[in-house]
Amino acid sequence: MSSLQGEPKGSPSAFKPPYQTIRWRASKFSVLDQRQLPLKKTYMELPDIKTACLAIKTLAVRGAPLIGIVAAFAVAHAARKHATHKKLLQAIDQLSQTRPTAVNLFVCLNHMREIVEQDGSPVQIVRQALDILEIEETRSYAMAAHGQKLIAKEMKVGTYCNTGALAAPGLGTALGILIKAHLSGKKIEVVVPETRPLLQGARLTAWELSQYKIPYRLVTESALAGIVGELDAVFVGADRIAANGDTANKVGTFGLAIFCRQFGVPFYVVAPTSTIDSNLSEGSQIPIEERSPDEVLSFGSCRTAPAKSKVYNPAFDVTPSDFITAIVTEKGIARPPYNWTGEK
Ligand code: MRU
Repeated sequence: MSSLQGEPKGSPSAFKPPYQTIRWRASKFSVLDQRQLPLKKTYMELPDIKTACLAIKTLAVRGAPLIGIVAAFAVAHAARKHATHKKLLQAIDQLSQTRPTAVNLFVCLNHMREIVEQDGSPVQIVRQALDILEIEETRSYAMAAHGQKLIAKEMKVGTYCNTGALAAPGLGTALGILIKAHLSGKKIEVVVPETRPLLQGARLTAWELSQYKIPYRLVTESALAGIVGELDAVFVGADRIAANGDTANKVGTFGLAIFCRQFGVPFYVVAPTSTIDSNLSEGSQIPIEERSPDEVLSFGSCRTAPAKSKVYNPAFDVTPSDFITAIVTEKGIARPPYNWTGEK
């Protein structure tokens, strides 16, 4: 049953994340401000499209599936505040310019555009956002279930960036598999690279794992060559997967995949089918976001390099599909050669 407030359906209680990433209330829409974690758990209200765009651009909310969900809810929030269809279409255009790499943003906004263009009522537009959230939640739990086939009773695994409930509804993507394994009684130890420059591994993944009391060790990226050989497997997420399986994910993922090949460690990508862009035949066609030099020139608020240094700061890199042992989606475990057509 639809309502202007709506209420996202609950997740299976045993696996429910112990924190809420999105708060959708009768008249307010807010998100957990990930820039403040792990020091503070504060919610940022997104009263209008401008603030929603800022939250996505500045990584207050981040992670491929979550960006799409937040954008969809920003449109729904504007609709329930009686924005005209013309304004909603402008909002969709503004939101689609926030971040270029994660395809989920465009997939979700296209779903919102469809309902707006069909002259959907505010109730129908809100329903569309709630449906998208529910579908992505279901996909997360399905990925976590399929992934259990890749997890032994006891395992030391690696991951990259942040792929938990902070990055995607439900339990997340790659981290969701590890969380479910832990909650089902498997003995999991996770190696967490800090993920320079914005430290999603140190700030967010370490925080999420500690919420579930999952043992982990934080390492710098420079330590990975020396430690990957000790791992049983590596699980990462994705921001966009081309039809041939080439995968864009947080910069540094490709380096990790190279180490995995060198040491014979299975390298798994975990992503819902909404992250597959079958319009692109290969990874070289994926647009890679380049972010502000300031992120590299500083460590937090402390300047660590000469201000005028030239900087190259890509947010993502592309791992060629032949480095990927398998790709886990909500449909199951796919192995090479990958050839996705018509995924949305
Ligand atoms: O720049 P971010 O923090 O949005 O990048 C996120 C990642 O690269 C994640 O690994 C990715 O979205 C995959 S899983 C949700």
